[in-house]
Amino acid sequence: MRVTAPLLPPFASDNYAPAHPDVLAAVTAANEGYAVAYGEDPVTARLDARVREVFGPGASAFPVINGTGANVVSLTALSPRWGGVVVSDVAHVNTDENGAPERVGGLKLLPCPSVDGRITPDDVARWAGQRHDVHRAHPAVLSLTQSTELGTVYPLDDLRALTHVAHDLGMAVHVDGSRLANAAAALGCSLRALTTDLGVDVVSLGAAKNGGMLGEAVVVLGPDDGPDGGAGPARESAAAAIPYLRKATMQLASKARFVSAQLLALLGEPGAAVAGTGDDAPLWWRNAAHANAMAARLRDGVLASAGTAPGGGTGVRVTRPVEANAVFATLPRAAADRLRERARFYDWAAGETPDRVEVRWMCAWDTRPETVDAFVSAAVDALG
Ligand SMILES: Cc1ncc(COP(=O)(O)O)c(C=O)c1O
Repeated sequence: MRVTAPLLPPFASDNYAPAHPDVLAAVTAANEGYAVAYGEDPVTARLDARVREVFGPGASAFPVINGTGANVVSLTALSPRWGGVVVSDVAHVNTDENGAPERVGGLKLLPCPSVDGRITPDDVARWAGQRHDVHRAHPAVLSLTQSTELGTVYPLDDLRALTHVAHDLGMAVHVDGSRLANAAAALGCSLRALTTDLGVDVVSLGAAKNGGMLGEAVVVLGPDDGPDGGAGPARESAAAAIPYLRKATMQLASKARFVSAQLLALLGEPGAAVAGTGDDAPLWWRNAAHANAMAARLRDGVLASAGTAPGGGTGVRVTRPVEANAVFATLPRAAADRLRERARFYDWAAGETPDRVEVRWMCAWDTRPETVDAFVSAAVDALG
């Protein structure tokens, strides 16, 4: 009789994970009687106060329904009708939003070749070369993803340099922070140190991948938040435009209090510590640090047990630096398919040779160490 090994929890996406119990408890607590709809409620007011503590005294929070919506609202608010948005070629806005920035926002994306998901100030400057040519989209916004789509993290100095060059060239800076928490935990810094203090102007602040249930927020920094006020006028006009744009792009939840409650559960209530690394750290930190640690464990386990293959062969090759909660690796396609019978995950790109494939293994706030170890054993079995 063939004994089938039990299925393991998936490593497909941090979006597959359940919502954290504290998030659900916060939603339940917000479910108290009637509240003014469309964000005029006391829970959203608390979120606004909390975002000012976490990001800067002039910051404003606009809860939205999903990450794609956060990006579209942010970029549309920052870009004039004739503008363009400089992004990496692998940016989620460029590859995984079904053209929403173009279709819904009417934006022109200006992609740069990236290395492990990151771009450089030179890439930005190259696009900026066309900024006085009326035949070309005017590069108005730089959008960076932190942590990146390939599981890497921009170091603070690199982000500072990128922000600096963008502002020098008259561009506003947006961060797709769908996994901002993972980046902050990886760098050991606060959310503010990763955004406001570097001159970032607008953030798509992720919640779903960090233990949330449904909903994210656009955070616009105040003109006096950060080192040089960033793109001050762009921040002011973005903050003024977003209430309208959010509605026009179908991102305004009528019962916004339930989105706000989730974000508050992750960020902490007003007055709580904004950072910290221990058990009393805010939930966003604990969830993200755990997910990152699980990815490091997975990388180490795979490298130690599954046989590395520098140029291909029958083993596994970890293809990107594991800096947040994702592990990218190549392995023989047949082994990937065998492993997928035990735990779901996605193919990402072609491998080094036609018989190999690059896969993505994501860890989440609830990934257990023993699940990682069982997945590594399953990988060893699958590789034969
Ligand atoms: C980097 C990045 N940005 C934005 C999003 C968009 O999130 P949503 O699926 O909520 O639209 C995702 C989702 O996977 C993402 O990975």
